[in-house]
Amino acid sequence: MNPLRMIIMGAPGSGKGTLTSKLLKKLPQIHSLSSGDILRREMANGSEIGKMAKSYIERGDLLPDKFMANLIQAELEQQKWLDAKTSFLLDGFPRTGNQAIELESVLVPHNSDINMVIELDVPPEVILNRIANRWVHISGRVYNLEYNPPKVPFKDDITGEPLFKRPDDNPETFKVRLDKYFAELEPLREYYEKKGVYVKVSGETSDIIFPKLLSAVEAKVKSGL
Ligand code: AP5
Ligand code: MG
Repeated sequence: MNPLRMIIMGAPGSGKGTLTSKLLKKLPQIHSLSSGDILRREMANGSEIGKMAKSYIERGDLLPDKFMANLIQAELEQQKWLDAKTSFLLDGFPRTGNQAIELESVLVPHNSDINMVIELDVPPEVILNRIANRWVHISGRVYNLEYNPPKVPFKDDITGEPLFKRPDDNPETFKVRLDKYFAELEPLREYYEKKGVYVKVSGETSDIIFPKLLSAVEAKVKSGL
């Protein structure tokens, strides 16, 4: 397999976390990292990073670009993914044009620049319906009371620990998050379109989106990139 260094983009609730889990079941050699999961873990640990993140997340605001770039760079270094061979998928980073520039400056010296960007394009009215039913585990595992319910109500399938509602999943904050996403989308899309790595996948359900995502990714890892 050719190394895949991929970004999955999409509005809040578009299914980035859910589709990443499905994809990694098919292609377990890909590592993944979600910026939101890292921040929620730091919040749960009560660390300085977590304290700083909390106020932004609860308002639905984006954290400062440089702060996020440093956080993700540290994670990539710690995981030892910065080489020309490792395949990884980033969920939730970059999400501004400046973050994309910062990321490129970290990856290029290691011959590991992004070679695929997927935008999940799901209608906002579909998304809003999903969020009311979302419950999560601190590991990042995501459930939906209708679509993929836990085996035991409100308990994580793997650990049995309680699930919780995200503090930013109330209707007011969610609207702010959606607006911020669409405000930042165009510069990011242009940035990666110019690099020739941008693919948009549209649809209302995972049954439609997942096969398209999987075949795009499989074609990429089998091609000469
Ligand atoms: P983050 O955690 O990244 O949240 P997000 O981008 O808002 O996206 P979500 O995690 O809400 O949605 P998702 O697309 O993963 O959907 P999911 O799979 O859960 O970021 C949170 C916050 O952290 C930001 O607001 C910001 O403050 C900060 N932050 C993070 N990264 C940052 C950065 N780079 N710069 C600055 N700040 C940053 O699916 C949603 C629900 O739908 C689930 O319940 C799921 O089960 C269900 N579902 C999924 N697919 C389907 C389907 N096909 N049918 C029915 N239900 C479905
Ligand atoms: Mg997510």
